[in-house]
Amino acid sequence: MNNKKYALITGATSGIGIPTALEVASKGLHTTLICRSQEKGEQLKRQIVEKTGNKDVDIILADLKSLKQVSDASQHYLNSGKPLHLLINNAGVINTTHETTEDGYEAMFAVNYLSVFLLTTKLLPLLKSTGNQQEKKSRIVNVSSEGYRMARFIDFENINAEKGFKTFPAYGHSKLALMLFNLELAEQLSNHPVNTYAVHPGAVNTNLGAGDNTVLSRFLFPMFRPFFKTPEQGAATTLHAAFEPTADGQNGFYFANCKVRKIRKQAMDNAQAKTLWSWSDNRLADFYN
Ligand SMILES: NC(=O)c1ccc[n+]([C@@H]2O[C@H](COP(=O)([O-])OP(=O)(O)OC[C@H]3O[C@@H](n4cnc5c(N)ncnc54)[C@H](OP(=O)(O)O)[C@@H]3O)[C@@H](O)[C@H]2O)c1
Repeated sequence: MNNKKYALITGATSGIGIPTALEVASKGLHTTLICRSQEKGEQLKRQIVEKTGNKDVDIILADLKSLKQVSDASQHYLNSGKPLHLLINNAGVINTTHETTEDGYEAMFAVNYLSVFLLTTKLLPLLKSTGNQQEKKSRIVNVSSEGYRMARFIDFENINAEKGFKTFPAYGHSKLALMLFNLELAEQLSNHPVNTYAVHPGAVNTNLGAGDNTVLSRFLFPMFRPFFKTPEQGAATTLHAAFEPTADGQNGFYFANCKVRKIRKQAMDNAQAKTLWSWSDNRLADFYN
């Protein structure tokens, strides 16, 4: 019997994603990286092979801002015929300026939430069938943030922050959407051999928010970075959710510092989670066929 396990990771080319991918590969999993830069993907692949000795590393190119590219990336994986034991939705952005994607969504909402919804739901039948063939359940790890608490609810009238954009409220809104996704997904998976989790990595010294030229990204973020966790420390909670045996019975749980973290009420709102799910399903209907 083939005991090889397979993982798919987004956002592994920087920050928390690098030690996450290295650890996944060092455990012997066939590791597929979804990344937007061929160069960074190839560089990481070389690093993984060199440091872990695991040569089973593939790259799928996709800019997660583009729903078409997310859909194509999931199809690419499905076409490969590989099983899928572990999906780590790690990619994320903080933007200090308002940006609209080609699909018409605010960019943080698109990358931090919509791309996760589309990628995960398209891969769900595969995660289920893989889980069915194993003693252990397949796992989905959604890298969220305590920042979700900056949003009190999903504002369907202002999904794209058109009524005034502020970095942290918009980031919080996208991460609250991700928390509600995890909540509803956990319920839908209750009778299936797949678990889903959300994690908060802590405040980690990475490239998050370093992309543009504003005061926030040039001065404020760098000022605090030296006091933050290292990327390795930041990856620990993701890896806990991905591999810890005790997490088997913790479908839908939220972890921080490798421990279960209580979820605030706005991210436990089942009604809003269901509304957001159907809203997303309708919006993305063209990508399912
Ligand atoms: N750092 C923190 O303090 C902190 C706190 C709470 C939560 N988080 C979460 O942790 C996760 C990892 O972030 P990080 O801190 O490691 O940040 P990072 O160093 O900026 O890494 C982000 C990763 O996401 C990828 N990515 C971003 N936009 C993308 C897009 N449009 N298409 C494809 N890939 C894209 C980046 O690719 P490139 O390499 O090509 O840029 C990179 O690999 C995020 O979900 C973030 O929200 C971080």
